[in-house]
Amino acid sequence: MKHLGTITLETERLLLRRYVPDDAEDAFNNWTNSETVTKYLIWPPHGTLDVTRGYIQYCIDGYKNADNYNWVIEYKENGQVIGSISVVRLEEEIDCAEIGYCLSEKYWGRGIMPEAFGRVIAFLFREVGVNRIQATHDTNNPKSGRVMEKCGLQYEGTLRQAGKNNQGIGDKVVRAILREDYDIRSGSEER
Ligand SMILES: CC(C)(COP(=O)(O)OP(=O)(O)OC[C@H]1O[C@@H](n2cnc3c(N)ncnc32)[C@H](O)[C@@H]1OP(=O)(O)O)[C@@H](O)C(=O)NCCC(=O)NCCS
Repeated sequence: MKHLGTITLETERLLLRRYVPDDAEDAFNNWTNSETVTKYLIWPPHGTLDVTRGYIQYCIDGYKNADNYNWVIEYKENGQVIGSISVVRLEEEIDCAEIGYCLSEKYWGRGIMPEAFGRVIAFLFREVGVNRIQATHDTNNPKSGRVMEKCGLQYEGTLRQAGKNNQGIGDKVVRAILREDYDIRSGSEER
């Protein structure tokens, strides 16, 4: 892999960019303090704006590492910061990146996360040289599985009682896309 860090990526509707301190209020109002968004996440709602401010500073500090991939999602139409997508785990020996994401409930159902994830997948395969991109979700959170499916991640299995989130211990679905799958998929889309 050739690490490039969190560089700005763009799609039709979105800007994926580094966090800045001014993002705290939007982040807090849109997702970091939401019971609904965090239902199947491993962290609880932030509770106060200061917790989000501290979290964003932690993210900003992380950008000094070239292998850090942590984007905030800006909706171009209104300039609002509406969610995030990041590499939550890198396995260097097998060129594997695991992705996590969340989005303000107000923006659900518009294909926004598939658009963001699709751009991140292209970047990781084409520019960073990743070979495998994986993601996992709780069996009770199929919405997240749909995003993965739309982006070409295949179902690989369900690990029983292998995950813990705000709902407790649960079964975890593993999905992944390989660079070779992506090449075939991109080829068929171009034809
Ligand atoms: C998972 C998530 C990122 C989906 O993003 P999105 O941009 O809404 O994705 P899509 O528009 O493609 O919708 C995905 C599925 O969610 C469901 N969905 C969409 N809008 C919905 C809404 N308003 N209410 C309930 N479900 C909805 C649909 O099943 C949809 O699939 P479909 O298009 O085949 O009908 C978003 O729901 C989210 O942030 N959830 C909370 C955080 C989370 O669970 N992160 C992943 C942890 S593994």
